Amino acid sequence: MSNVAVIGCGVIGLTSALEIQRKIENVKVTIFADKFSPNTTSDIAAGLWEPYLLAENSEEDVIRWSGETFRLVKKLWTEGKAHEAGICLQPIVNLFNSKNYSIPKWVSVTLGYSELSDRHLQTLSKQYGQSFTGGFMFVGFTWEPAIFLPYLQREFVGKKGTITKRRIEGFNELEGFDAVVNCTGFGARFLSADGAVVPFRGQVMRVKMPWQYCTYLVQCDEEKNSCYVILNRDFVVVGGTKQSSFDTTPNKADTNRILRNSLKITPSIKNSVFANEVVGLRPSRYKVRLEQEVVKTANGKFLKVIHNYGHGGAGITLAIGCAKEAAEIVKRVLNIDKPKL
Ligand SMILES: Cc1cc2nc3c(=O)[nH]c(=O)nc-3n(C[C@H](O)[C@H](O)[C@H](O)COP(=O)(O)OP(=O)(O)OC[C@H]3O[C@@H](n4cnc5c(N)ncnc54)[C@H](O)[C@@H]3O)c2cc1C
Ligand SMILES: *[C@@H]1O[C@H](CO)[C@@H](O)[C@H](O)[C@H]1NC(C)=O
Ligand SMILES: *[C@@H]1O[C@H](CO)[C@@H](O)[C@H](O)[C@H]1NC(C)=O
Ligand SMILES: *[C@@H]1O[C@H](CO)[C@@H](O)[C@H](O)[C@H]1NC(C)=O
Repeated sequence: MSNVAVIGCGVIGLTSALEIQRKIENVKVTIFADKFSPNTTSDIAAGLWEPYLLAENSEEDVIRWSGETFRLVKKLWTEGKAHEAGICLQPIVNLFNSKNYSIPKWVSVTLGYSELSDRHLQTLSKQYGQSFTGGFMFVGFTWEPAIFLPYLQREFVGKKGTITKRRIEGFNELEGFDAVVNCTGFGARFLSADGAVVPFRGQVMRVKMPWQYCTYLVQCDEEKNSCYVILNRDFVVVGGTKQSSFDTTPNKADTNRILRNSLKITPSIKNSVFANEVVGLRPSRYKVRLEQEVVKTANGKFLKVIHNYGHGGAGITLAIGCAKEAAEIVKRVLNIDKPKL
């Protein structure tokens, strides 16, 4: 029996823990975290499947990781689990004003897409007061973390996984484990002293607007002209910001700008019912860190650590692909110790 510890109980920790249970025989998995749903950054996310704010991650990595997530979400949906797993099928419209707009390759992963016609772009440009240079629409999903995190947690515990509330301050606390998976999100900045993890502040509002059946993302070169309106099961998520800031309190100027822009793309927001407004810090990094490292603890012991953090604005989207790869690495690392028969 191998003993594996996972640090973190956001989307990355939970999906990694479940993939380890799935992929490896005779393994005991323990999750350590100081925050759980509904209090993680993952809970704040709109849960839209769409690769977003991904900096230097290669297109191949993004398509492979996000494709795995899309296939799992589609599978759950096909099995009739949309309600319990927090999945909503929907049309998603993306608009851009960049001079060098081009349709991203990942749309091929979705359930179907089309580019917007010039006429459609002109109409929307007029409505929004921007010159859109391109846009596309695809059929895809939101996978709402505040609903699916508890769902995954139940599944993990059902497979004899253990969840322990504890803040991990150092490696030496985990010396008894055969491998440790580091899924600390923004926490990695402190725990790992990984200065490459930087905050990308996201402010969002949730409103009740049960008549809305389409998601919009307006991605302008200038943040002040951007906004999104994303469908979830019980709420519509209206945003957003992407600022280099640690400030986790909602800001009035941001609220006003978000409302001003989103009203142009979805005027009936003015008749919606306000539910709440929150800020999350996306754990951004120039690249997702998904690799193994052997770390020497303060006591001189060696610990096998598998890092899986830094998913920025797309942790929900990339989760399953990254979790599968992390589990694959864990399996390899554990096998090294197996006595050869
Ligand atoms: C406003 C907003 C909207 C977003 N919308 C989307 C979206 O639509 N689609 C999408 O794909 N992504 C979206 N994201 C991005 C997404 O939220 C993140 O990429 C994702 O949540 C990262 O998950 P995580 O598990 O790495 O981190 P977290 O959810 O932050 O989880 C980290 C876990 O590690 C634990 N931890 C950290 N340090 C320690 C420690 N020292 N000891 C013990 N435990 C520790 C925490 O307690 C927590 O359990 C959005 C983000 C924001 C802010
Ligand atoms: C979430 O945070 C609130 C407020 O701090 C706390 O009362 C609650 O117990 C937390 N929930 C979980 C599941 O940890
Ligand atoms: C578009 O052009 C700008 C400036 O020329 C450049 O910085 C950016 O990387 C380009 N974006 C794409 C998607 O090619
Ligand atoms: C997470 O990764 C970093 C970077 O190597 C490491 O320093 C930190 O201690 C890790 N956290 C744990 C508890 O494994």
